[in-house]
Amino acid sequence: MSIPGACKTPGGGLSECLTLGIETSCDETGIALYHSRRGLLAHKLYSQVALHAEYGGVVPELASRDHIQRVLPLIMASLREASCDLHDIGLIAYTEGPGLAGALLVGASVARGLAYALGIAAIGVHHLEGHLLSPLLSSPAPRFPFVALLVSGGHSQLMKVAEIGDYTLLGDTVDDAAGEAFDKTAQLLGLGYPGGPALARLAESGNAQRFKLPRPMLNSNDLNFSFSGLKTAAATLVRNERNRNERNNDDASLLADIAASFEVAIAEVLVAKSMAALEQTGLKRLVVAGGVGANQRLRTSLSAAVERIAGEVYYPPLEFCTDNGAMIALAGSLRASQPREAGASAIENLSFAVKPRWDLQENAGDRQGAVAGFQGTGV
Ligand code: KG4
Ligand code: ZN
Repeated sequence: MSIPGACKTPGGGLSECLTLGIETSCDETGIALYHSRRGLLAHKLYSQVALHAEYGGVVPELASRDHIQRVLPLIMASLREASCDLHDIGLIAYTEGPGLAGALLVGASVARGLAYALGIAAIGVHHLEGHLLSPLLSSPAPRFPFVALLVSGGHSQLMKVAEIGDYTLLGDTVDDAAGEAFDKTAQLLGLGYPGGPALARLAESGNAQRFKLPRPMLNSNDLNFSFSGLKTAAATLVRNERNRNERNNDDASLLADIAASFEVAIAEVLVAKSMAALEQTGLKRLVVAGGVGANQRLRTSLSAAVERIAGEVYYPPLEFCTDNGAMIALAGSLRASQPREAGASAIENLSFAVKPRWDLQENAGDRQGAVAGFQGTGV
């Protein structure tokens, strides 16, 4: 089926445009087709969890090689699911950074190569902007402005989002990200990789009141986070309790109780800082994004706190909390529809780069030339 009116350049009538989204920043190959009027038409995800599990974490070179194998079959499967063909695509959005350099290069090369072959535009998307805008995939979608709590494996940030592309950093982690703390603590508890979801599952049966772990920077009078001390406190607790258990071997619920106590400590800090960010900005709308946003305890506590101030909280659908192609397609589509982006569609040369380290605010202020493509089809 052909979608009537699909655009061929970012400037060319983006009110009707089918965007292919490609996410390859870490250990998930995410592909999606997002139509500017009809919404999300298809999305596919291949997780490399099994590939990296035996190493206890992501092996970058293995990740890149696996993306190479998955990306084209997933694009074809998405097109079939959406009953579209390659020529219906009007724009290709890909994760340009931050992430693993080799993994990013796979998505960028495929996106730029395919865009060149089809004579359409490609746009590099900031991975965190994808997460930030992912709640717009839910219904009802949040209105701007809002405060976003971005909590992933590499980031713990609070952002004020005034509109698409207008982001102000309110707070950041001074050391580990929340997801990293989940993953490292899960490893201590022998839960393997990836740790966050496994720790959350174990915590369901635990007693969160049993151990009082620190709430780092809870009273720091700013919106910054710190999670490495909490992780160390959890490590000390595990060691001490295990030693004690050797003498007194009847504590079957120990690990679940530690998991629950740890989860509640992280959630309490994230909730307190999110509420402080709402107060500081005078906003009442909170959006939660990133993999840790899938955590049910965090969601329950946040919802209760936001309800107390008669505010609103939005979560992306669970499948779009962690890395996925839909958020990249959506962010690329929204970005390209901005007037200031549309003017920057032509490129003079075919070289491109990825940005393994990339500040989101820098991205917000530096979008000229971000959309690279070809006017018309004479390529
Ligand atoms: O956003 P994401 O998929 O990838 C990054 O960009 O980092 O986030 C992955 C992180 C991992 O640290 C993972 O352990 C954590 O999100 N995570 C969770 C849960 N699901 C994923 N942490 C706590 N509870 C969960 N249910
Ligand atoms: Zn992510």
